[in-house]
Amino acid sequence: MTILQLQKRKQQQQPITMLTCYDTWSAKLLDQQAVDCVLVGDSVAMVMHGYESTIYADMAMMTMHTKAVSRGLTKPLLVADMPFMSYRQGFSKVVECATELMQAGAQAVKLEGAKGNEQVVRHLVESGIPVMGHLGLTPQSVHQLGGHKIQGKDEKRANELLQEAMDLQAWGCFALVLECIPESLAQRLTQQLTIPTIGIGAGRYVDGQVLVLQDMIGCSGEFYPKFLQTFAQVGNAIGQGVGAFCQAVQQRDFPSQAHCYEPLAPQAVEKVGHETSA
Ligand code: KIV
Repeated sequence: MTILQLQKRKQQQQPITMLTCYDTWSAKLLDQQAVDCVLVGDSVAMVMHGYESTIYADMAMMTMHTKAVSRGLTKPLLVADMPFMSYRQGFSKVVECATELMQAGAQAVKLEGAKGNEQVVRHLVESGIPVMGHLGLTPQSVHQLGGHKIQGKDEKRANELLQEAMDLQAWGCFALVLECIPESLAQRLTQQLTIPTIGIGAGRYVDGQVLVLQDMIGCSGEFYPKFLQTFAQVGNAIGQGVGAFCQAVQQRDFPSQAHCYEPLAPQAVEKVGHETSA
């Protein structure tokens, strides 16, 4: 999938599918489905490393997970998040970080917000790095926003978001994630923009949907926001599998004889000349 194919999806009104992914084995699973776009999101800090917010994601974390995901993907467009503050410390830092993510296998980078990001977005795009924008609830600003709250509920903030979206498009972003904003605002943005919008908690009238993989397969514990649907109960299945393993070991049902290696008979050793492998 390329950014041009993604943009065509909007023109042809074909919904875009996007999921987060942080490791090779789940990347291989996503690769076999109709997933258009895979995001190595900075939510990796929370989902995989147990931190309380995305501000703990750093370049070492993002690069390691981007490399792992890229080794499992062949088809979807791979986007990696620029971590907290990596694009607010001047050009040389942003160029260094974006280069590292692209060399780790990303095909585009995502960064949050618009204000103060014009030069960065323009510079990356002009340098040949596709940039995805992210507006609405921007988790890296969680403390500035006063918590994980729905954004753009009043007219003033809604108009600001509209202007920010138009700015990101003008500066060269190829697509925009809209997180936790009212459906009617997401619809307005989607109609006014020529680039695709990809919503999470932004309702139905956007060009695509993104979810955190672990959330939509029932592996995020108690986290259950209004916008989320659980499409598979993998968490329960893992729990059952682990429980069954523990029980089988405790009851000495596992391993059975069928799982055990026996020394080769002397004549077989002579015949093959070496031991057979597992
Ligand atoms: O980091 C992330 O998971 C994201 C999605 C919520 C879009 O940015």
